Amino acid sequence: MDLKQEISALEEEVRGHLSTIETLEGLERFRVGYLGKKGKVTLLTKRLGTLPREERPEAGKEINRLKAWVEAELERKTHTVKEALRQKRLAEERVDITLPGRRVPRGRDHPITLVSREITDIFVGMGFEAVEGPEVELDYYNFEALNIPKDHPARDMQDTFYISDNVVLRTHTSPVQVRTMEKQRPPVRVIALGVVYRCDSDVTHTPMFHQVEGLLVDKNITMGDLKGVLTRFVHLMFGKDVGVRFRPSYFPFTEPSAEVDIQCVICKGKGCRVCGNTGWLEILGCGMVDPAVYGFVDYDPETVSGFAWGLGVERVAMLKYGINDLRSFFENDLRFLSQF
Ligand code: DAH
Repeated sequence: MDLKQEISALEEEVRGHLSTIETLEGLERFRVGYLGKKGKVTLLTKRLGTLPREERPEAGKEINRLKAWVEAELERKTHTVKEALRQKRLAEERVDITLPGRRVPRGRDHPITLVSREITDIFVGMGFEAVEGPEVELDYYNFEALNIPKDHPARDMQDTFYISDNVVLRTHTSPVQVRTMEKQRPPVRVIALGVVYRCDSDVTHTPMFHQVEGLLVDKNITMGDLKGVLTRFVHLMFGKDVGVRFRPSYFPFTEPSAEVDIQCVICKGKGCRVCGNTGWLEILGCGMVDPAVYGFVDYDPETVSGFAWGLGVERVAMLKYGINDLRSFFENDLRFLSQF
């Protein structure tokens, strides 16, 4: 086969080879195979010397032309392959902006938080200041100074968690009354919302729950003021058409004492399972502050008088939202919690 034929055969081969290359590695293999030290084009150059002298210039030209052509073809192919690879990468990395975003679930306020806020707003609106007291409390504030001495039978009403002989988890928010009066002279107008603890657990009791304490002491405060403030609270909380009644009761730290019932929010007073067919639901305890309590804080019962109340937050929330199981507040079931 003469050189010319060899060259055109090689051209043919190069075209065929180039058309199959798709990768950078393929391009490199091609370069080595034709233009490298032992490449097919390079070897052709070396054969020049074996030709008769007069054929050499012509053959040299042909080989150089071939070499230049192969180099140019390789460069062209390199461009094509690189561009194809670039397109492929762009396609792979493409972000589909038409895809709808994933929703991040939003937290909600717990119903107890909602009701606590609402109760606070109502009393703050009537001029009460929100204060706080400790949950781990001295026996003195939880009982003694509220006119409940160590041997008093009223201690049995409250199932107390004792930390030691003199320290308890507060069983009610009433100790904040005493702490407030120790710090402050009349007029006093405070509410204290917080957690209380009782060693009791069944369908209607949880060992931890929330209360709101209220205390108002000033000159010439009467039971009429108590009824006015608490009736207004009920009307703002449950609606102004809801009936309210004050029923005589007993607490060691108030005299006289009462419990407040509201007309059943479920049956509107007709009588149902929730209100035990009475048409009424108890929502809070209250009374005129017992003069004995003033004795512990150095207030003069001859010149000041006042009233106090204690309200169960869970109870209000149950009535407000028609929840019939106290435990649902503490189970943290999102299906329950996301409804408020
Ligand atoms: N501390 C009482 C309880 O937890 C509730 C209570 C009743 C609070 C009468 C008061 C009150 O301030 O005057 O059962």
